[in-house]
Amino acid sequence: MVFEVLFILAAYLLGSVPFGYLFTKYATGQNILQLGSMSIGSTNVERVAGKKIALLTQVCDMLKGLLPVGSAILLQREGLVTIQPYFIYLIAFAAILGHNFSLFLKLKGGKGVNTTLGASILLAPIQVLVSVALFYLVKRLTKYVSVGSICLGISLPLTSLFFPLSYCFYYLLAAALLIIIMHIPNIRRLVQGNENASSNLKKKNV
Ligand code: G3P
Repeated sequence: MVFEVLFILAAYLLGSVPFGYLFTKYATGQNILQLGSMSIGSTNVERVAGKKIALLTQVCDMLKGLLPVGSAILLQREGLVTIQPYFIYLIAFAAILGHNFSLFLKLKGGKGVNTTLGASILLAPIQVLVSVALFYLVKRLTKYVSVGSICLGISLPLTSLFFPLSYCFYYLLAAALLIIIMHIPNIRRLVQGNENASSNLKKKNV
């Protein structure tokens, strides 16, 4: 039990590493928390620091989810530890919470889409692949990254309904709800008609 709790704390700490904030600061000298949508996620990083830094942020944000879940599964498989199945999902969720509410940014952060994908790919690969395909389709049709992200989130538990009910469904349901909650400012802007349709900060208000 102590081991599992320490693992969850470690996942939260890793998730808390604000790559988008750090890379943007290093590349442009600017504080991303005060620019664009004020999120440290790769969409906002692209607005402020450009495509390359955004891609780097995206990969690192995914790894923040993948590494703790991957190492827990590996340790379990090698028989080095015994982790209750539901703890793997708590580890995944802790990494996402760390990204959204970073310990190093006074609990500010991102919206958790990339970290959710990284944390979930080993736990629910089909659901993740379907959600990513849906994301690109919706983004292409609507030109709004946020609408794509919301649909991605919703599809995660929905696709899980095609599988036997397990902890995985509840984990994906919680992850989806969190994605939707984190996108409330985007939803408000969408309703008001002033959501940023592109990743370019200069084109429109965000
Ligand atoms: O994944 C985040 C994206 O859906 C929205 O990002 O910066 O436009 O709020 P942003």
